[in-house]
Amino acid sequence: MEIRVEAADIARFPAKAIVVNLFEGVRTPGGATGAVDRALDGTISQLIEEGEVRGKEGELTVLHTLGRLPAPRVLVAGLGKREEFGLNKVRDVTAAALRHLRRLGADTVGTVVHGAGVGGLDPEQCAQAITEGAVMGLYRFRRYKGNEEERELRELVLVEADAGKVEALRRGVERGRILGQAANHARDLANEPANMLTPAEFAERARALAEDAGLECEVWGPEEIRNMEMGALLGVAAGSVQPPRFIVLRYRGRPESQQAVGLLGKGITFDSGGISLKPAQGMEEMKGDMSGGAAVIAAMWALGKLRPPINAVALVPATENMPSGSATKPGDVLRARNGKTIEVINTDAEGRLILADAICYAKEQGLSPLIDVATLTGAMAVALGPAATGFFATDDALAQKLIAAGERTGERMWRFPLIGEYREMLRSEVADIKNVGDRYGGAISAAEFLHFFVEDTPWVHIDMAPTDNVDRDKGIWVKGATGIPTRTLVQLLLDLAGEGV
Ligand code: BES
Ligand code: ZN
Ligand code: ZN
Repeated sequence: MEIRVEAADIARFPAKAIVVNLFEGVRTPGGATGAVDRALDGTISQLIEEGEVRGKEGELTVLHTLGRLPAPRVLVAGLGKREEFGLNKVRDVTAAALRHLRRLGADTVGTVVHGAGVGGLDPEQCAQAITEGAVMGLYRFRRYKGNEEERELRELVLVEADAGKVEALRRGVERGRILGQAANHARDLANEPANMLTPAEFAERARALAEDAGLECEVWGPEEIRNMEMGALLGVAAGSVQPPRFIVLRYRGRPESQQAVGLLGKGITFDSGGISLKPAQGMEEMKGDMSGGAAVIAAMWALGKLRPPINAVALVPATENMPSGSATKPGDVLRARNGKTIEVINTDAEGRLILADAICYAKEQGLSPLIDVATLTGAMAVALGPAATGFFATDDALAQKLIAAGERTGERMWRFPLIGEYREMLRSEVADIKNVGDRYGGAISAAEFLHFFVEDTPWVHIDMAPTDNVDRDKGIWVKGATGIPTRTLVQLLLDLAGEGV
């Protein structure tokens, strides 16, 4: 889809559809909506009068212009209450409006810049939000669907009356395109079935994204992983016929500095649970158990495109978790890269095992802070439900920045407490630590397991099990993988680089 900015009058704009908007409770539309209303001889105000158009959030009204405007259709999108309005609404309204118009067969659309006029928001940020909404809201994963006729939106034009704003809008579109595409790259990886996206294929896809964005990429196979003495990763991989990979991506935006942020992502390409096998119901969703890895790879791609002055290294241990005659068994003891031994009580608590080795390596490399991203625990999904991603942090300032970045991107981040006492749950009779604690507080004891390996390095652990997937289309979210928290990671790194806009 092509996305452009043009200085023009929306009422005179030639496209298959134009999009204007309305706040809830407005009786007489102003701005661009007012101009379109006048060109339609007051149709919009009449519908408001009759109570059919109310401007409620999510309300989409399509009017047929029957030759009164160059565009055959006008979509009036409700923006909801003015007090609740913001960039997150701009993104969601755009996504829903464009999905609706695509369904109707409109392949070219002109839209006003929601929020930039009456809404009083920063025009550049609005243009970015509209572009993210378009790119993410129109996303589809159709690789394995046959010759169904597909309607496509080919062209979206942000139509702005004030020519003086066009340059700023273009910058917003450029940034929005990169952030939206980054989220979609993460979705593409996570939606891919596990027979297609093996650890080897995952690494190849990471390599291709790295190449496209000018990142360094290194991929280790089983032999190198063995030489690196990553016994926890090897223990998880032991049951699978698919050999593991360890993926390393490097971005250098600040070559004069030795410091680099470490982004660590869980890369379980399929989590059957291993010998501690999961129930059949819903197990197919575990093809997305590499969503954390996908998000950090996609975020690195965006950094390569945006080039902020910061250094970052992504580490993604990638393997299946499968049962077989060679699989790790409950009671087995693994030795992580730092020499610590782990008693495996439940082979389904595998994410923390592969991350332990990645954390050891990240510390050796001097990466700081460490930010790991993982679909780690069902307990976190139970605690938060689908509207927030949980995280833990040893650094209050970094935690605040992550919350702020999530507010900015519309990916709500909720801080959980690290509780040192729960380390006791992880005491093993035979090894230095065991891989599961009690049933209660499962997300926290999982975090404390990682903390055992992180030690005193500044660290954030993001448990995205609540939000890796959605079961229906809603705003920018499309049924399937969400791409969370790709944009939040990028925003955080931009903010850390002092470039957050
Ligand atoms: N990948 C799962 C966690 C998960 C569950 C992610 C639901 C997304 C949706 C993880 O590897 C796992 O199986 N965790 C276990 C840990 C338990 C055995 C201590 C869990 O949460 O049940
Ligand atoms: Zn598991
Ligand atoms: Zn898992």
